[in-house]
Amino acid sequence: MKTDLESLYIALFTLLILFSCNNNQEGEDSDKNIAEVSESIDNKVADLLDRMTLEEKIGQMNQYNGFWDVTGPTPEAGDAAKKYEHLKKGYVGSMLNVTGVDEVRAVQKIAVEETRLGIPLIIGFDVIHGYKTISPIPLAEAASWDLEAIKKSAEVAAKEAAAAGINWTFAPMVDISRDARWGRVMEGAGEDPFLGSKIGVARVKGFQGEDLSLPSTIAACAKHWAGYGFAESGRDYNTVDIGTSTLNNIVFPPFKACSEVGVKTFMNSFNELNGIPATGNAYLQRNILKDKWKFDGFVVSDWGSINEMIAHGYARDKKQAAELAAKAGSDMDMESYAYVDELANLVREGTVSESLIDDAVTRILKVKFELGLFDEPYRYCDKEREETIIGSEEIQETVLDMAKKSIVLLKNENNILPLKKQGLRIALIGALASDKTSPLGSWRLAADDSTAVSVMEGMLQYKENNLEYAKGADVALGETSFPFEVKINTTDKSEFKRAIGIAKNADVVVMVLGEHGFQSGEGRSRTSLDLPGVQQALLEAVYKVNKNIVLVLNNGRPLAITWADKHIPAIVEAWQLGTQSGNAIAQVLYGDYNPSGKLPMTFPRDVGQVPIYYNYKNTGRPVIPAPNQVFWSHYIDESNTPLYPFGHGLSYTSFSYSNLRTETLSQNEIKVSVDVKNVGPVEGKEVVQLYIGDLVASITRPVKELKGFEMVALDANESKTVTFVLTNKELGFYNNEGVFVTEPGAFKVFVGGSSDTVLESGFELK
Ligand code: NOJ
Repeated sequence: MKTDLESLYIALFTLLILFSCNNNQEGEDSDKNIAEVSESIDNKVADLLDRMTLEEKIGQMNQYNGFWDVTGPTPEAGDAAKKYEHLKKGYVGSMLNVTGVDEVRAVQKIAVEETRLGIPLIIGFDVIHGYKTISPIPLAEAASWDLEAIKKSAEVAAKEAAAAGINWTFAPMVDISRDARWGRVMEGAGEDPFLGSKIGVARVKGFQGEDLSLPSTIAACAKHWAGYGFAESGRDYNTVDIGTSTLNNIVFPPFKACSEVGVKTFMNSFNELNGIPATGNAYLQRNILKDKWKFDGFVVSDWGSINEMIAHGYARDKKQAAELAAKAGSDMDMESYAYVDELANLVREGTVSESLIDDAVTRILKVKFELGLFDEPYRYCDKEREETIIGSEEIQETVLDMAKKSIVLLKNENNILPLKKQGLRIALIGALASDKTSPLGSWRLAADDSTAVSVMEGMLQYKENNLEYAKGADVALGETSFPFEVKINTTDKSEFKRAIGIAKNADVVVMVLGEHGFQSGEGRSRTSLDLPGVQQALLEAVYKVNKNIVLVLNNGRPLAITWADKHIPAIVEAWQLGTQSGNAIAQVLYGDYNPSGKLPMTFPRDVGQVPIYYNYKNTGRPVIPAPNQVFWSHYIDESNTPLYPFGHGLSYTSFSYSNLRTETLSQNEIKVSVDVKNVGPVEGKEVVQLYIGDLVASITRPVKELKGFEMVALDANESKTVTFVLTNKELGFYNNEGVFVTEPGAFKVFVGGSSDTVLESGFELK
């Protein structure tokens, strides 16, 4: 029972919050706010927590999907009515998929003005590669290896999303994956933990900025904790069973890097990891994340993943699922209704300790304070900002710049590219060449269909050539809208004839082929990595009449384009590049932008090689012992090597590497230098990559591992010395006890423009 004094205090406190919120809405002096109640955020959180009922605390741990169209009547029946009641009672801490200033303001108003304590909501959304203006899919951005550009892309995405009322993104996805069949590789930074860590950090910094309380920055979320990218056979949501070394050395590093730079939230994942669903996994969420890494933000479950522990066979019912998730350290329940329905009883009957609830709520409230939501709950709800910022020129320019930097030139025989700007008869072929939706890719929930610049539109800006277009064949059939499966055209070749006709008379054929934007992403695993549908047949048919083909690939994952590599002279990897896609591609095709992208993921020759990755282990039988011998680690029907290795990417110029040298600066500090020269005809940028190989160690190490990279811009004939310093951080690894060690012995070092670089040296650690 509360004393009268306590009740009076609660009432005064509530009034104080309401007063500050309403005041701020009018834009008046906001000094008299909760900041006066206590000094630091920790104190403010503790004060507030003290005043919350158990149900209100659990409410903060409850996240609902947008359930009501705020332009219509308030919900009166069913699920939506229940959620609405919860919102009014203060039993909702966060909402997702509520977007736009009017909508966000409407739900925030209920939380702030109608609930007892007036605690503002944190509004989450999947801002994965842009909000309304779409930047390249994250895998494409990773191909730029340009950390500044990637950070800037996240920064403008945050700015645009924040202008639409959002203050929390469920990004970056930092799941390492070696399996191109997995549809979600489009959402990450590829296969390498070193590159993945740098990119994860760049994205977190871009989203969160220097000051989280600014109305242009939003909280980030490192996801999916953990192992999600290692789903067996690349099938989404599938079982993950991997060992300590892979976990510590491959899966964890990007998460750790994000945690070290202060990412505010983590999201757990749908998969089980070694028998325990990630959502109920105390080893992951408590031992590693919160205890070992001292992460002080909060963990949100993935959508319904608390309940999914029942299907996993780990929890008997929703009640037990809530218990296991809460105990394991999942702080917020996304759409399982498990916490809001079950946790209070679990606490009252003594199964879950209230201190666990307090810990979770403390973490959540802290982020809300840091976002400045208590000072000004409507700070993300400025109509004028929404109108001026969304789609602004600055954002368009940034996504165009990012798109150009994301393109990878895979092949360019006889310098067929760049195209001449005058006097060419060009046949442009492929349904994707005129598509204005597919280039937006997957995970672009707020973008409108048909808002991307198509390749055709981009190319038509170069007016002094003659461009003829034929689609050749549809890629997707009928509706392609989210979240439904894309139906692929596997039979209709009726338009081939026209395409072949225009190809016959062309000087050069540009074919835009690949995956539809919704063929990758969540729930979109493939068993084949071929060009989908009849596109391979179209390519071969056109090739029969004109071999001068530039193949522009649109895809959300590595593809096995072995036939194309063998026959087609020029191949441009253009992924799904977002709103400015066609402009970026045209500028690259015409040489107004010299491509510098490098693959963040290995391209296999055949899907049967998957998982395939550059940092593999040697095995006991790495080489053929004698001609025609079978007893070595290989395939009898395909080479072990990839089609295009990790780090591969060409330019319209070329670079030579020489004079690789190493110097021991001090114990476990090695300086590596190399001279890089632009030996081609035009200026260009090169990503200089450094790999090491630890030859003998207490656990076997990969044949090579990326440990440094630097982008250099060189004029024709210019050269530069690039220097790296390797320290403990780069030289060590986690042993099977989870301890980071650096071991003495011989190392190899490789430097070049790709992971299959040949320039090699070595050094010894004492
Ligand atoms: C499920 C996805 O796995 C996750 O990444 C996403 O953030 C949530 N849905 C919310 O949309």
